[in-house]
Amino acid sequence: MAGKKIFIAGHRGLVGSALCRLYGKMTGWEVVTRTRAELDLQDTDAVRKFFGEEKPSHVILAAAKVGGIHANATHHVEFLLENMRIQNNVIEFAARSDVEKLLFLGSSCIYPKHCPQPIKEEYLLSSALEPTNEGYALAKITGLKLCQHYCRQYGKDFISAMPSNLYGPNDNFDLETSHVLPALIHRFHLAKLNEQPTVTVWGTGSPLREFLHVDDLAGGIHTLMEKYDEDLPINIGVGKDVTILELAEIIKETVGFGGELEWDSSQPDGTPRKLLDTSRINALGWKPRMTLREGIRNTYEWFKEHYQE
Ligand SMILES: NC(=O)c1ccc[n+]([C@@H]2O[C@H](COP(=O)([O-])OP(=O)(O)OC[C@H]3O[C@@H](n4cnc5c(N)ncnc54)[C@H](OP(=O)(O)O)[C@@H]3O)[C@@H](O)[C@H]2O)c1
Repeated sequence: MAGKKIFIAGHRGLVGSALCRLYGKMTGWEVVTRTRAELDLQDTDAVRKFFGEEKPSHVILAAAKVGGIHANATHHVEFLLENMRIQNNVIEFAARSDVEKLLFLGSSCIYPKHCPQPIKEEYLLSSALEPTNEGYALAKITGLKLCQHYCRQYGKDFISAMPSNLYGPNDNFDLETSHVLPALIHRFHLAKLNEQPTVTVWGTGSPLREFLHVDDLAGGIHTLMEKYDEDLPINIGVGKDVTILELAEIIKETVGFGGELEWDSSQPDGTPRKLLDTSRINALGWKPRMTLREGIRNTYEWFKEHYQE
């Protein structure tokens, strides 16, 4: 194991910071990071120079332009262009500088809008995408295809992983732009502090979603770095979903909000179910360790300690 040098791109983000926590404590790995100010991954010359000088042996690409539903639906051009620039630069120069192994992070939104559930990897490109995040999804599909073709054409060990919804320390807790889980943590926390009688949540509470803690994701990524070398992307998820109602109840209890939960059923629910089929990664011996309740407790502790209003 000695002498492995891993570049974790996007180390200050939700996923990248979890990877740094894991690889930072593992012996035999030197972790290399760069902030965006030090290395803008959209800058081709800077990325070429970085790979030429640092010569990492391993790369995990967790840097991307990531956003909520509104940002995705209104900025397709930016999501497409920025993500393609970042991934084209990193994947191409990793290949040219003979990186031994690269893992590209995609997302479950690469799968068609109307997919049988749970979603198997082979459903990729079998029908139309969800139109609201098409720019982002197309960029991600291009990234995983680039890895697949580097694998097939040049024999590179470049793999792609597709995670489900993620949460944990360093998530985005902004009330306007965050995903459902961190938004509910923040809203219940404020409601508790302000002694509000109720918290209103959009929709009916019936949609089913799965949520994977980023520390479990990091473990799954490490398993793939060690054991997976196929050119087909691979899902990473919990393999089990909960209703938004169940999620909200767990967060309410964890935060200790004593008021009532109300549902605004005039607001849209979104797709009824989105669950990844995780049998392929489970067959490699990986499954998540944390329950949703434990993961939410861990995330709420982090939020109370670090989040500034
Ligand atoms: N969050 C989820 O639920 C989820 C689910 C499935 C898949 N994923 C995938 O996981 C990956 C990481 O997501 P995340 O949630 O960790 O995102 P994040 O918290 O927004 O982190 C992204 C990181 O990328 C960096 N970055 C963006 N543009 C850059 C550039 N031009 N040059 C250098 N660094 C740049 C950001 O740097 P700054 O800090 O400077 O902005 C940030 O540290 C993405 O590929 C995403 O598609 C996420």
